[in-house]
Amino acid sequence: MILSSDILQQFTSWFDDAKQRDATYCNGMSVATVDEQGQPSNRIVLLKSVDEEGFTFFTNYNSRKGDDIVHNSKVAATFWWSAFQRQIRIEGVVRKTTRQESVEYFSQRPLLSQVAAVISDQSQPVASFEALQAQFDEGKACLGDNVTCPDHWGGYRIDAHHIEFWQGKDHRLHERQLFEVKGDEWVLSILQP
Ligand SMILES: Cc1cc2nc3c(=O)[nH]c(=O)nc-3n(C[C@H](O)[C@H](O)[C@H](O)COP(=O)(O)O)c2cc1C
Repeated sequence: MILSSDILQQFTSWFDDAKQRDATYCNGMSVATVDEQGQPSNRIVLLKSVDEEGFTFFTNYNSRKGDDIVHNSKVAATFWWSAFQRQIRIEGVVRKTTRQESVEYFSQRPLLSQVAAVISDQSQPVASFEALQAQFDEGKACLGDNVTCPDHWGGYRIDAHHIEFWQGKDHRLHERQLFEVKGDEWVLSILQP
């Protein structure tokens, strides 16, 4: 569902506060997926953009999370900014970004990060870290300066239907604002802490 201007404004305001306080990985969010057996797993990824269409991150489509998403596109994501005692919880479904968006973002990455993305069979075992380093060195030598975005690498955009803004308050009397899609509109509720 398209994010309402209220939600986008609130997200952007909190995200900007976090960025001003400490820009290092303030865009880190945990993203949880669920596999075919119903086993959830989560990991930190970096939010690369947000707009009314949703929250976008980039990864390897053949990774564990990518495999999970093939079977179940429902995800949950969480941000936590300790300096402000703020948490944002998001639930929704993911869709791949267009190939053009993925290629554009890939081309902005530093060359060696592009090489690492190409040579890494993300989430698969490797004999040793040294073997991985050797794979990387070989990639550096072979790929040259124009690295193409692999087909299995790109973005996912979370199309949200549930977003909670959690503000920590004194005495654990925290303030929780939940925006949920009901029918074709966003409805705001206040939850008890
Ligand atoms: C701060 C931080 C940022 C990360 N950013 C990304 C990212 O944007 N994309 C990504 O695929 N993995 C990122 N990772 C690595 C993931 O947490 C994870 O190890 C990787 O995606 C493999 O996860 P999977 O095996 O569950 O698919 C990041 C890890 C950390 C700690």
